[in-house]
Amino acid sequence: MKTEPFSFMINSPGFIPSYFDNHIKRHLSDMKGQFNNKEAFQEVLEAGDKLLYEVYELKRPEIEGEILHGISIVHPGKIGEEYYMTKGHFHTVLETAEIYYTLQGEGMMVMETPEGDWAVEELKTGGVLYVPPRWAHRSINVHSDQDLVMFFAYPGNAGHDYGTIETQGFRKLVLSKSGKPQIVDNPHWKPPEK
Ligand SMILES: [Fe+2]
Repeated sequence: MKTEPFSFMINSPGFIPSYFDNHIKRHLSDMKGQFNNKEAFQEVLEAGDKLLYEVYELKRPEIEGEILHGISIVHPGKIGEEYYMTKGHFHTVLETAEIYYTLQGEGMMVMETPEGDWAVEELKTGGVLYVPPRWAHRSINVHSDQDLVMFFAYPGNAGHDYGTIETQGFRKLVLSKSGKPQIVDNPHWKPPEK
């Protein structure tokens, strides 16, 4: 890990940072229980454990004052009607925000609070999305054949809580209906316990 100021490049077409510490790969098997259509999930999984998304991280101390950052690449594809997406998470320290800059592609960010408020924002090339503190977030690639590439940055002390979303899901799903992305209620969503 660097202690002096540093810079790096993120260039098309690949968008792989010229410098990074971790390369995380998430396959379909890492997403068990996350997709709405369980039969479609099983069917696709049996045909091969597809790579859904990748993250290139720059390691920083996980403390207040630092900014963790990197690149996420969600590949195009669908499980049934549901697009490839990230696991989605709350930050362990709820009162921490995140910022996303879309470098390429078309997508949706599905968000919700522990109280069950929800929001969906479009992601498109050149767009900046601010995710305020308390909002869980999941990115979804709605393009048929292009990667969704985003630069992200969030406070060093944020941490990741994947478990809450694994248990309750997101309140809204984005499904492909007649070739277009549509926001629908998640029939399996479990409202947060009061
Ligand atoms: Fe996050």
